[in-house]
Amino acid sequence: MTAFQHRHLLGIEDLSRADVEQIFHRAEAYLPYCRSALYRLADLRGKTVVLAFFEPSTRTRVSFELAARRLSADVVSFQALGSSLAKGESLLDTVQTLEAMGMDALVIRHPAAGISWLLREHVSCSIINAGDGQHEHPTQALLDGFTLWRHFGQLQGLRVCLIGDILHSRVARSNIALLHLFGAEVGVCGPLTLIPRNVEQIFGVRLFTDLQEAVRWADVLNVLRLQWERMESGLVPSVEEYHRWFGITARVFEWKADVWIMHPGPVNYGVELTPDVALSPRSFIRQQVTHGVAIRMAVLSLLLGG
Ligand code: NCD
Repeated sequence: MTAFQHRHLLGIEDLSRADVEQIFHRAEAYLPYCRSALYRLADLRGKTVVLAFFEPSTRTRVSFELAARRLSADVVSFQALGSSLAKGESLLDTVQTLEAMGMDALVIRHPAAGISWLLREHVSCSIINAGDGQHEHPTQALLDGFTLWRHFGQLQGLRVCLIGDILHSRVARSNIALLHLFGAEVGVCGPLTLIPRNVEQIFGVRLFTDLQEAVRWADVLNVLRLQWERMESGLVPSVEEYHRWFGITARVFEWKADVWIMHPGPVNYGVELTPDVALSPRSFIRQQVTHGVAIRMAVLSLLLGG
């Protein structure tokens, strides 16, 4: 195992395979502790972690908070609404103010792509990117990769197909980078209006426009939500039509009985996925959520030197 030399986690692009493996091993060691507050580890005692979420979140925010608490850190949830940002203070000033109060790590989700890279230049605490616009969501890719790594033992040669709105998805971008680090094969499938142009050349993935072909090719389907909040109008004719062509329903098991299902959440049932598939024994969705806490414990402790 290598020594983890990073102070920040901004994107998967900055990590080596050895870095990711180190995070996986640490997360595995934390797994027995991540579901219960009975055993609080002391790894981050004396550290202060601030969560600043400028976009909605359930899983990512709560799991970062639980992860920090399980390791005995002090956790502060910064509320943008009602803060001095509303009085015209800049984000940078706000972050430097929090740092002056003793913040050791800032976990930030923000609609502006690249915001974590900008902040890193101006602060000395650790910055953790919890999703920046359409750009990166490194801890989601880590927990997705960890789920596959634990189940399959390795990712080399595994065929993972991302289904749906690839264009607006930071989950897709970070997943592609991580899967390539480990020699997995990546496919993308969705309507062409929701797939970046030249995706094959730029991202080195296989493009499918036919869902049945994608399912027959893949070992794992990672199903994504339609990100309406980032979409111009007219990219999808209707929800019903999207569901008819790209919805993951029980039909996928007729095409390939042993395909696995993932979803980062939140799910829009009846659009990209049906509940019977989400709850089927071939779904990793619950495990992904549990693994999210262990992965975030590992990231916090490696970055903060615990
Ligand atoms: C994703 C996100 O926020 O990018 N969700 C998550 O973090 N669990 C995907 C999404 O919002 O669809």
